[in-house]
Amino acid sequence: MTHELRHMLRDDDINHEEQKQILKLGMKFRENRFYARPFEGPQAVAVLFDKPSTRTRSSFSIGVAELGGYPLVIDKSSSQLGRGEPVEDTARVLTRMAYGIVWRTFGQDRVETMAKYATCPVINALTDQFHPCQILADFLTMAQFRGGVDALAGQTIAYLGDAANNMSNSYLLGGAVAGMHVRVAGPEGYLPDPQIVADAKAIAEKTGGSITVTTDSQAAVADADCVFTDTWVSMGEEAEYAIRSKPFWDYQVNPELMKLAKPDALFQHCLPAYRGKEVTASVIDGPQSVVWDEAENRLHAQKALMTWLIAWQREDPSLLGDLD
Ligand code: CP
Ligand code: NVA
Repeated sequence: MTHELRHMLRDDDINHEEQKQILKLGMKFRENRFYARPFEGPQAVAVLFDKPSTRTRSSFSIGVAELGGYPLVIDKSSSQLGRGEPVEDTARVLTRMAYGIVWRTFGQDRVETMAKYATCPVINALTDQFHPCQILADFLTMAQFRGGVDALAGQTIAYLGDAANNMSNSYLLGGAVAGMHVRVAGPEGYLPDPQIVADAKAIAEKTGGSITVTTDSQAAVADADCVFTDTWVSMGEEAEYAIRSKPFWDYQVNPELMKLAKPDALFQHCLPAYRGKEVTASVIDGPQSVVWDEAENRLHAQKALMTWLIAWQREDPSLLGDLD
């Protein structure tokens, strides 16, 4: 581990081995909430929100505190960033005080600019394009129920719904990094950016995974190990609510669709969920659903990610402990 400033802006900012290391560290934090305390001091981490949040806000606030640090949570409405102060200037200021910057915002270019001017790790807490922290939590949940982190490569995952949104993009890249067989299904007009599919395919070639993009929801879930969905209307798209419901009904995760997956398939949803829309109550509240473990795993996965990024910056692998 050499001295290096690493960021987590998109799911392929880490490679296969690094993802495994972070997930194994996440398992350690699951067993012991106080496994590592890299922000002892307390050192502050700035956690910025330009969009609403329940899980990300609570898991980063509590997570930073449990790592020994102080979470400085700032909302758009109460910051100068929200009034148009340049991202560059915000980065220059925060980086002189904080030991990490976590940001939920709109365009990916904004977190990239923040990272360019920051001298501490920057973490994407959701942009319009990606939600990499969620994917770490989701894969930690699969590891929890599927015999550990080493069992993840080769698993088949299916994501249904808005296949052009941040979750879809992140499953494509993150699943490819993990060596999974990733299938995403959505209606015409809501399929992923071809560049992201190409990036995911290039990674999957190296990790032994595969990428399938389809409009066929039944083919996507056939024999899958885990089925995922997300809201049909992401934050920022509220004005499209009426036109967005129609095309997605064939992609609703309901008991008929779940029957096509493996009999012991898991169901996950990043939440918030809209019962009766992208998923039926019988599935999300049923026996195959692990959504509450998934939500809890945001805490463990992000503590692992922050500890891992700090270990790089401080050139101190001892922060990770023994992961084998
Ligand atoms: N899954 C997720 O990011 O939830 P919040 O929007 O509540 O943070
Ligand atoms: N795709 C959703 C994810 C919410 C966690 C959104 O961006 O609103």
